[in-house]
Amino acid sequence: MSIHKKQEIKRITTHQLQEMKNRGEKIAMLTAYDYSMAKIIDSAGIDVILVGDSASNVMAGNETTLPITLDQMIYHASSVVKAVKRALVVVDIPFGYYQGSSGEALRSSIRIMKESGAHAVKMEGGSEVKDSVLRILSAGVPVMGHLGLTPQSIYKFGTYTVRAKEEGEANKLLDDAKLLEECGCFGLVLEKIPAELARKVSAALKIPVIGIGAGPEVDGQVLVMQDMLGITKEFKPRFLRRYADLHGIVTGAVHKYVEDVKAKSFPNEEEKY
Ligand code: KIV
Repeated sequence: MSIHKKQEIKRITTHQLQEMKNRGEKIAMLTAYDYSMAKIIDSAGIDVILVGDSASNVMAGNETTLPITLDQMIYHASSVVKAVKRALVVVDIPFGYYQGSSGEALRSSIRIMKESGAHAVKMEGGSEVKDSVLRILSAGVPVMGHLGLTPQSIYKFGTYTVRAKEEGEANKLLDDAKLLEECGCFGLVLEKIPAELARKVSAALKIPVIGIGAGPEVDGQVLVMQDMLGITKEFKPRFLRRYADLHGIVTGAVHKYVEDVKAKSFPNEEEKY
């Protein structure tokens, strides 16, 4: 038997995320929708991978998150789960698969957990989804909340602008955040709200609060991977920091490949059998 022990990779759990908040360590979360990219970002040290319903936009080319189905989310999630050794994998319950009743929400969550092997689900809304959150949690499935700009309600809002700037909406958001924590959510995403409100929510809650366009004073950050890697060139919200220009890199590589094929310089002697 080898004396060399295999180095064990410790999986991130919801409990560890809580400990990270308790000791002031920020949580890094990104979206992923496929095996290859999930494998890269997992081994690069991401804490949480969100199989977001933003797959509807960035993978399927839809204008909104509304068209994506539960089967499609499960397909993306199971591809991601197969690649991941360390990160916690959270999956969005898509539009139309939890709003009907808490029973429907539970059935959708169970399908996600059973068929993809993911570790938790996320759903949008506050008091409106209370019964569903409680029902899902009663089955032992961890739930993450999502408040602020909730893209599944885009036709109600009418725009993707900053939410909760008015006092009434800000107060409701804070109440909803407290309610989701009381229900037992292990974490909360706050999307596109004033930084000061996000700071207040994070300070008021014990559970980790992860922001996207919610300023720095929350417990972690999430971005859509295609946006932060510079694949989606046209999307330029103020909150987005681009860490690469993959659009440029891929375009350059494809130009060069086309050129080589046309010039008959690919494949060369070494590249054939
Ligand atoms: O679907 C998604 O990518 C999300 C993030 C924007 C938080 O919900």
